[in-house]
Amino acid sequence: MITSKELRNKWLKFYESKGHLNIGAVSLIGDGSTGVMFNVAGMQPLMPYLLGQPHPSGKKRLCNVQGCVRTVDIDSVGDASHFTFFEMMGNWSLGDYFKKEKTAWTFEFLTEVFGLDKDKLCSTVFAGNESAPRDDETADLLKSLGIRPEHIFYLPKADNWWELEGTVGTPCGPDNEWFYPMDETVETAFPEGYVEIGNDVYMQYKKTETGYVPLENKNVDTGFGLDRMLLFLNGLEDGYKTDLFLPVIEKLEEISGKRYDEDAEARKAMRIIADHTRTAVMLIGDVNGILPSNTGAGYILRRLMRRAIRYCRKLGIASAAMGECAKIFIERIYDEAYPLLREKEGYILSEIANEAERFEATLEKGMKEFDKCIAGIVRKNEFMKKSDPSYRGETVIGGKQAFRLYDTYGFPLELTEELAEEQGYSVDRAGFDAAFREHQEKSKVPAGTFKGGLESHSDMAIKYHTATHLLNAALKAVLSPDVNQRGSNITDERMRFDFNFERAMTPEEIKAVEDLVNAKIEEDLPVVYREMSLEEARAERFVGVFDSKYGDVVKTYSIGEFSKEMCGGPHVGHTGVLGHFRIVKEQSSSAGVRRIKAVLE
Ligand code: ALA
Repeated sequence: MITSKELRNKWLKFYESKGHLNIGAVSLIGDGSTGVMFNVAGMQPLMPYLLGQPHPSGKKRLCNVQGCVRTVDIDSVGDASHFTFFEMMGNWSLGDYFKKEKTAWTFEFLTEVFGLDKDKLCSTVFAGNESAPRDDETADLLKSLGIRPEHIFYLPKADNWWELEGTVGTPCGPDNEWFYPMDETVETAFPEGYVEIGNDVYMQYKKTETGYVPLENKNVDTGFGLDRMLLFLNGLEDGYKTDLFLPVIEKLEEISGKRYDEDAEARKAMRIIADHTRTAVMLIGDVNGILPSNTGAGYILRRLMRRAIRYCRKLGIASAAMGECAKIFIERIYDEAYPLLREKEGYILSEIANEAERFEATLEKGMKEFDKCIAGIVRKNEFMKKSDPSYRGETVIGGKQAFRLYDTYGFPLELTEELAEEQGYSVDRAGFDAAFREHQEKSKVPAGTFKGGLESHSDMAIKYHTATHLLNAALKAVLSPDVNQRGSNITDERMRFDFNFERAMTPEEIKAVEDLVNAKIEEDLPVVYREMSLEEARAERFVGVFDSKYGDVVKTYSIGEFSKEMCGGPHVGHTGVLGHFRIVKEQSSSAGVRRIKAVLE
């Protein structure tokens, strides 16, 4: 048995011995530069260096084990091999070594460190197309290392080309994939019974709008999935049986009194709870941690958590079990690789408990409402069939009903869709979107409800008002999260903004704040109004004065994921209309309070 901790260390040690610098893992949350919400591959944070920029370490050989979150397959989680979080063991050559060294090292790692039989290894290489030639060079190197020629296969782009889908301006190239039989004692024709253990990408192209352009640097980008390799090295087929999950599954067995191996339904529920809780722990406990919300990455997190909560219910256990599982991930499974989780343990556990509490408060009622929707459709179908026996029956839940489940009971649309599918129904997505938009229109606050500095309700004053929100968030990002608004005053010509800060800002800080506000204007972020409970606003980290009472409904505005404030409005619909933001003056206002005057041009 090899443990996950041993495997991580073996990978890093091996590549360190080949002159690589372990650069450690970075945040799981994408920085927005590629439009990908989460970090989905080990190479993602290294993109600028693969494209030619020197790495800050000055090194050209790098390695790490990088956590990744891929949520496209959320619905498949529950089987033995789909996960929303995984770790990629990687190493890179930034224009340094190339195919000769890379093939030799992967071969050495597999045959010498893990003792795999070279006669059983299979390898696939790129067959070539109009963008790039057939990779005979790699095939020849593999043969010279001792891989049997009949075990080397040329495959087309669909199999042996790696790129970040849905992006442009990113590095990519042909890859060499490595396979081994699941059961060494069985002779089968490739690929039947073989498992892919990893791949070496020869990143030498840049993907553009019009095609692939050769890069100056010839890079190597290697990715071996830790979870998958662990499974395979231990001769297992079920990803939940490795040490990355087993203690959590055992905990769920203990709490539910059900047996993972003997009860298929319980098994599926346990897998979903374990997988989604792990990803929630990782996302909340990340250096750039997020919380469940109704937009962007926060919404994906909410979907995962609410799906897990529903499966707790299916398993017949309270959702507090998620906290028990989270503790095991934090304290026993990822304690070494993710020490930050331990530091943030109390916070992670309380946020998981908060979301569970929020959703459980409405889940029961929402399920009743859902059952009513189905019962209504069944009744209608029966009625119609009476008068027309050939009537085939309706199987679609209306968009308005799905929206009500979302808005009143907190059911993410995808959850309603999953519930519907379990009973042979579907949901009218377009109808849901229409109901959503209609609701947003209706809840826009009319100008005039605003009180906290606005001297006029002209278009220009409204723009300045939105700009104060951007400025507030930018000051927090550049100076300190402890910076808070102390007051503001807006006319048609300028804005004034007071905030707590002990010293004068440096010219660099002023520039950084201006640049950040202008970047958010250029991103043309939507400004979204929402009413919510005070508790929800607090949990979602809206800033503002929490002087309302428990149970009160508060008005909030969020600007993309960048700014979240409790506020009565009015605001512009999207930031693109603000133009260019410039700080005219930064001065002292009173002890510990600074004042900024700024204009939109
Ligand atoms: N970027 C390659 C992968 O993610 C190594 O598989």
